[in-house]
Amino acid sequence: MADTLLGKAVSIRALWKSYGPQTVLHGLDLEVAAGEFCTLLGASGSGKTTMLKVIAGFEEADSGRIDIDGRDIARVPVAKRNIGMVFQNYALFPHMSVRKNIAFGLEMRGLSSAEIAKRTGEAMELVELTAFADRVPGALSGGQQQRVALARALVINPDILLMDEPLGALDKNLRQSIQLQIKALHRELGVTIIYVTHDQEEALHLSDRIVVMDKGRIAQNGSPQELYRRPASPFVAGFLGECNFLGSGSDLWAVRPEALRPGPAGAGQRQVDAVVESVIFLGSVTKIVARAGERQITSVVGSGLIDRAPAAGSPLPFHADERDVLAWPA
Ligand SMILES: Nc1ncnc2c1ncn2[C@@H]1O[C@H](COP(=O)(O)OP(=O)(O)OP(=O)(O)O)[C@@H](O)[C@H]1O
Ligand SMILES: [Mg+2]
Repeated sequence: MADTLLGKAVSIRALWKSYGPQTVLHGLDLEVAAGEFCTLLGASGSGKTTMLKVIAGFEEADSGRIDIDGRDIARVPVAKRNIGMVFQNYALFPHMSVRKNIAFGLEMRGLSSAEIAKRTGEAMELVELTAFADRVPGALSGGQQQRVALARALVINPDILLMDEPLGALDKNLRQSIQLQIKALHRELGVTIIYVTHDQEEALHLSDRIVVMDKGRIAQNGSPQELYRRPASPFVAGFLGECNFLGSGSDLWAVRPEALRPGPAGAGQRQVDAVVESVIFLGSVTKIVARAGERQITSVVGSGLIDRAPAAGSPLPFHADERDVLAWPA
């Protein structure tokens, strides 16, 4: 498996999809480069799973075009698309061993038994499951089952790997350890990944590119840094990372908690007058929650920069550098 070639590029143009009267994808355009880790991030019902299903061929788009490596896949049968898939509910065969589960896709492709044994062995090694080869899924932990699902998707050497909330059922520690494993596998195998999550931290952690979806439309598409530093809309600013919205009416502006600092404004800064509500020590950083008129604001400061915590109930001005202010035309 280590000799897998670079994954393939995916190009989506004007993709429309509706279920009955409801339009779920509104003419989406998306370019995913070969070998890129692209994450679709969005609230429940925003169309993420539908997008993956259309790419995989489980659902047919109303119109639009999907090219893989420059080739229109409408004419490529689903089984020939060479797309691997991992879903949230592992969907392993319960009566088959780990080895059999992983080998299944290769058997369907009619490979020789020697080739199947070799590739299945490699895939189990890749996700560190060799010791569990003869167990059935019911005798594995959730994380181990998820790794079987991952191995099963990877063993076919997919050009593209689609992953729909694959870690949703796992606890936080396990999520983080499998996230690291997915990231390492992506680097090692170079497969193109389109990943779905509604967990912003997971998206930031894993992705080269994040596509924020909102009700079947792309709200913004860019690197994690771009989205965080230059969100295209208040929706994106609020969806990815914490944000203090401070403007009103058409004068809509906002600032991230780490850009809002206690103390009066100087040149090139704006000031917000507030009253401290609580000061929360979080180790390396301290969070100050305060009230500015109707709004609650949050400031996050390096704990080393605060010599004396402000008392709850005391008035306190905050400031932000103009260049850190996020603003959107009305
Ligand atoms: N087979 C279907 N028939 C009718 N409507 C559907 C079908 N599948 C999805 N929908 C609707 O399409 C919209 C988008 O669904 P989709 O599953 O793509 O959302 P999602 O972003 O994956 O959400 P979640 O985060 O909850 O998984 C929803 O309003 C959903 O109810
Ligand atoms: Mg979904």
